Amino acid sequence: MDQAERLRNIVKKQNKKGHLARVITVTSGKGGVGKSNVSVNLAIQLSRLNKRVIILDADFGLANVEIMLGIRPKYNLSDLIFRGMDLEDVVSAGPENIGFISGGSGLRELTNLNKDQIQNLVRMMYELDHIADIVIIDTGAGISSSVVDLILASSEVLLVATPEPTSITDAYALLKTLCRYEEFYENSIRINMIANRTHSYYEGEELFGKLDTVVKKFLHVNMEYLGYIPYDEKLQKAVMRQQPVTISYPNAVSTRAMLEIALFLENGTEVSTGRKSRGLSGVITKMFRYGR
Ligand SMILES: Nc1ncnc2c1ncn2[C@@H]1O[C@H](COP(=O)(O)OP(=O)(O)OP(=O)(O)O)[C@@H](O)[C@H]1O
Ligand SMILES: [Mg+2]
Repeated sequence: MDQAERLRNIVKKQNKKGHLARVITVTSGKGGVGKSNVSVNLAIQLSRLNKRVIILDADFGLANVEIMLGIRPKYNLSDLIFRGMDLEDVVSAGPENIGFISGGSGLRELTNLNKDQIQNLVRMMYELDHIADIVIIDTGAGISSSVVDLILASSEVLLVATPEPTSITDAYALLKTLCRYEEFYENSIRINMIANRTHSYYEGEELFGKLDTVVKKFLHVNMEYLGYIPYDEKLQKAVMRQQPVTISYPNAVSTRAMLEIALFLENGTEVSTGRKSRGLSGVITKMFRYGR
């Protein structure tokens, strides 16, 4: 399949009127815990389960998802907002039929938009809601006010943590920050956690248990455990080769763990919440409403 054909597959308009994508915002307290690897590899596994998946890279500057996917997008979100590009121009074809949108120079840039630009962006995101089943947003390291706005506007957050003590305290600090805002409770945002880089099943359970206990007790927030991804040298080798592990090493332990999590995401969590997705257009609209 050539590049153009793959892109057509991604942007195939199925005219699903009113269809809204499920938006999963991937974040963490501490940087470098595996957000981008989780975003990319989960996207690939979900795509293999016949979902139309688009990754939106909100981790500006470092562009690490692009590097991992081995693609160089011609245009980014800024081109869509400021230079009148169409959605087709900014969705790049990634491997395995996934789509990719580069965030350009930043979420922060979005804070200065005028009304027309906001409306246009929301309209484009609504179009994107029709062509994607799932949008995975990879946020950058650190808790900037724009990342907080994005999380508060999301209905589903995927929190990545590792067993390192600093990762756990930083994850707690992130949730504590979110709890300062009424919107966090009002929107009943779903927090799903993944334990990454664990050395056993038990280490994953223990990590979730520790965090869940303090979060319940002090913040009165419910978290769900999605599962663990083992520490895997194959994943690191894949990163060095600038390829997702799910492509380089189909039988690696982390590849299999990503599939289990994808299956759980697909079957388990949406059904159990019964919540309706606001779609990407809804998330962006909310985010502008908060704009701090
Ligand atoms: N399951 C794993 N096993 C082994 N190493 C891992 C695993 N997950 C991530 N890593 C290592 O951690 C590094 C950082 O991962 P990644 O870039 O996905 O983190 P990130 O949270 O997106 O970082 P940033 O906060 O800088 O965006 C990877 O390059 C890899 O070497
Ligand atoms: Mg990253």
